Amino acid sequence: MIKGVIFDLDGVLVSTDEMHFNAWKKLADELGIDKFTKEDNKRQKGVSRMNSLDVVLSKGNRIYTEEEKEELAERKNTYYKELLEELNENGILPGAKECLKMLRQKGILIGIGSVSKNAPLILERTGLIHYVDKISCGLDITRSKPDPQVFEVAADKLGLKYEECLVVEDSFAGVVAGKAAHMKVLGIGTEYKQLRADYEAPGLWADINWEVILEE
Ligand code: G6P
Ligand code: MG
Repeated sequence: MIKGVIFDLDGVLVSTDEMHFNAWKKLADELGIDKFTKEDNKRQKGVSRMNSLDVVLSKGNRIYTEEEKEELAERKNTYYKELLEELNENGILPGAKECLKMLRQKGILIGIGSVSKNAPLILERTGLIHYVDKISCGLDITRSKPDPQVFEVAADKLGLKYEECLVVEDSFAGVVAGKAAHMKVLGIGTEYKQLRADYEAPGLWADINWEVILEE
């Protein structure tokens, strides 16, 4: 029996993926790295800011010190936060709010499992904070997805056993993390598709058989 659903944030509940890409692209352009593309961006989804930076830098041909990398990650975050100033409830992905409302009405606990350190800000700006019981984010963890830590912390905060939780994820790293946490996983979209999620849907707007999923 599923008692809690732990949602990834970027690309599942909110449309911030494009903002992440644009901020990384701006940084890449400044560094003269012109080979960074949307295809590379797929590998950044669900992984921490520093690991995402490594994806950008791997497309260039210079080695950076740890100190330089810290500055570059900080710079990208400044660009990203400028874009987040435009974010409001219009950034909520189709079906997401309705889905959270429906699950809460059924007595299901709602958790967030996102490696983003900006997750609390994003939840505030979109108003989704009002539909969430507990947040596990980049500020709570030491290991990024595909490590299961972010989902384990979410379950712990909700006071649930791992097998009582369902993870909803759109990224490859996130689906791996959910399975590694011994949780059921609902995969959203197509980017994780080399893997097997327990359930699949194109988006939260789709006709998802929640009765069956929650009973298992
Ligand atoms: C999410 C996104 C990643 C991003 C990570 C860290 O998981 O999918 O692309 O790198 O969060 O986000 P942050 O807001 O902390 O830089
Ligand atoms: Mg995601």
